[in-house]
Amino acid sequence: MKKAHIIATSSYVPETILTNQQLEQMVDTSDEWIQTRTGIQERRIAGAEEFSSTMGAKAADIALKKAGKTAQDIDCIIVGTLTPDYLFPSTACLIQDLIGAGNIAAFDIQAACSGYVYALSLAKAFIESAQYSCVLVVASEKLSSIVNYQDRSTCVLFGDGSAACIVSAEKTHLSIDSVCLGSDGSQSDLLILPGGGCKNPTSAKTVEENLHYIQMQGKDVFKHAVLRMEASCQECIQKAGIQESDISWLIPHQANMRIINAMAKRFTHLTQDHIYKTVHKYGNTSCSSLGIALDELLQEKAIHPEDKLLLTAFGAGFTWGSSVLTYKGDVA
Ligand code: COA
Repeated sequence: MKKAHIIATSSYVPETILTNQQLEQMVDTSDEWIQTRTGIQERRIAGAEEFSSTMGAKAADIALKKAGKTAQDIDCIIVGTLTPDYLFPSTACLIQDLIGAGNIAAFDIQAACSGYVYALSLAKAFIESAQYSCVLVVASEKLSSIVNYQDRSTCVLFGDGSAACIVSAEKTHLSIDSVCLGSDGSQSDLLILPGGGCKNPTSAKTVEENLHYIQMQGKDVFKHAVLRMEASCQECIQKAGIQESDISWLIPHQANMRIINAMAKRFTHLTQDHIYKTVHKYGNTSCSSLGIALDELLQEKAIHPEDKLLLTAFGAGFTWGSSVLTYKGDVA
């Protein structure tokens, strides 16, 4: 049977940096509060002419180049985003055009911050069932477009950026050994963008009530995030037929340093040195967070053949998911 591999990863973050000190000038907050409660020091903000499509296309181009492929080689594009350029058409179609891919399958998935793992799961299924042979997975977010920069409880948390990877059956780079996904819609109101959908179509009233911005019950989300990611990791480790002690690196969704640390404490073997973090410099980039962290980990750390990486994510929905990857060596 074919086995799906991530044969290249990439990431892109916009140039503009928004620091905690700048946020101090915008809302009633402090660098000290933000760092203590979240570990975030700064985040990136997309330019006026940058969108989820253009940032996603940048990451896609880099991933294709790293994989030694062209846009013509891919036969499916899956984009995870909760900040699509439009409700429709999909951002995947816009990226198909921007990168010059053929008239191939292209669609968005909406699993909030868990989108990267959900997209990987789909890509794995497509490759292993031989429906497609080369899948482009993109995660891209312009969260600054749905953040209320007058709401101190959310505006300090989020940032913009994108990531991509190429999934195929070529036996190189990272094998996708197992993926576990989950959801709980009964908690949907704890983290939500209430306006702009068919329930609250955009109107002067929805804008006046700020329904076009992220709304979140931070404390509740925090607790669910820790519990769900931990349980999902255990499930995924079991599904891969390995032990926690076999994991070389944990790459958690980069929402908040305290969430990451609280979750890390629940592992017996994984030490802080083996938990990869980017949240201090990018904040929470939602769907893109895992892809950016995975790409940077591979660039910055010495990863050895047969090292196992554990990805885990949690987001609005609620949704969650984890994946065990094994490093197989570099792309030839
Ligand atoms: N600066 C200063 N004070 C702030 C603040 C800010 N940016 N944001 C909130 N506060 C205040 C609150 O108003 C509250 O004041 P009060 O006690 O006078 O009412 C106080 O700080 C404590 O707020 P609370 O919400 O209890 O803080 P917390 O310890 O739960 O931390 C979060 C808040 C948002 C950092 C934390 O709940 C969190 O990280 N949650 C998960 C968020 C997340 O990751 N979401 C995405 C998941 S995909």
